[in-house]
Amino acid sequence: MPLVTTKKMFERSMKEQFAIGAFNVNNMEIIQGIVDAASKENSPVILQASSSAIKYARINYLRKLVEAALEEHDIPLALHLDHGSDFETCKYCIDQGFTSVMIDGSKYDFDENIELTRKVVEYAHDKGVVVEAELGKLAGVEDDVNISVDDAMYTNPEQAEEFVNKTNCDSLAIAIGTSHGAYKFKGEAKLRFDILKKIKEKIPNTPIVLHGASTVIPELVEMCNKYGGDIPGAKGVPDEMLREASLSGVSKINVDTDLRLAMTAQIRKVFSEEPGVFDPRKYLMPARDEIQRIVEHKIRDVFCSSNKA
Ligand code: G3H
Ligand code: 13P
Ligand code: ZN
Repeated sequence: MPLVTTKKMFERSMKEQFAIGAFNVNNMEIIQGIVDAASKENSPVILQASSSAIKYARINYLRKLVEAALEEHDIPLALHLDHGSDFETCKYCIDQGFTSVMIDGSKYDFDENIELTRKVVEYAHDKGVVVEAELGKLAGVEDDVNISVDDAMYTNPEQAEEFVNKTNCDSLAIAIGTSHGAYKFKGEAKLRFDILKKIKEKIPNTPIVLHGASTVIPELVEMCNKYGGDIPGAKGVPDEMLREASLSGVSKINVDTDLRLAMTAQIRKVFSEEPGVFDPRKYLMPARDEIQRIVEHKIRDVFCSSNKA
C-alpha cells in the first residue's frame, strides 16, 4: 500500500471512537519498532518527523526507510511533518512526498496564525496533502520554542470554530493541559476534558490532535535511573486519561518522549550489565524490541486502534 494521508483514518477514528498513534521517528530502529507493532496490531499509524529529526536523519534516508516499511507491511501509514514552524519547511516536506504536515502557528497571535495556516493549507491541498494546525499553547520545549507552564494557554472553543472555518485546516492540535517532554505535571496529572468536550461541540467534524501525550512510563524512568541515568521527578499523562481522550473525540495522539525513554533504558541496561559489549546491534536490538512492546501496548490498550487498519 502506498503512503496515505490521514483523511480516511481520521474519519474512521471519529466515527468509531479511537485514536491513531503518531510516533516521532529519527532512525531505522525507531521506525521498525513502530511499524512492526502497528502491523502486529493491524492498526493505522502515523510516522512523524520534526525539523530537527529531518536534519539529523536526512530526508532521503527517512523517506527511503519509510518506503521500506511500506514494502514490508500492509497497513495505512502516513508520513507527517511535526511542528513545522514556517511555510518553507511545510512546502519542502510536501515537495519531498510527506502526506501530512503540521504548521505550528501557536506562537503567533490569532490572526497571524490564521494567515500562516491558510497559506500552508492552500499549497498543501493543491498537492493532495493534509494540514494539522495548532491553536492554544502547550507548556514545555519544542524545536525553537520554549514556553513556561505559566504562559501555557488552553484552547478557546469559540476561537477553535472560527480558526477552522477561516483556515480550512484538516485537523487541529489543542491545548488542554498536556506539555512536551518528561516533566508534564508538578502535582497530580490533570487534563481539561471539559474544554475538549466544548471544542468537540463547536467543531464536531474536525479531527482533534493531542500533543505532549507521552505517559512517561514509570518503569522506563526507573530503569533509566537504575542503570546510571538521572531523570528525577519525571511525570506524564496516565494511560487511563489517554484512553478517555481516545474515546472522547481525540483522533491523533503524539508520542515521542516514551520512545526516547524506551530506547535509552534498554541501551543503558546493556551498557551497565555487559560492559564488554561494543557491537551496536547488541544494544540496538533490545532498544528496538522495547519500542515495539510499548507501541503495541499503546495501540491495543490505550488508543484502541487495533484491527482498524
Ligand atoms: O514536539 C516535539 C517532538 O518531541 C520532537 O522533538 O524537535 O527534539 O525532534 P525534536
Ligand atoms: P511527548 O513529549 O509527550 O512525547 O510529545 C510529543 C509530541 O507532542 C510531538 O509533537
Ligand atoms: Zn508536539
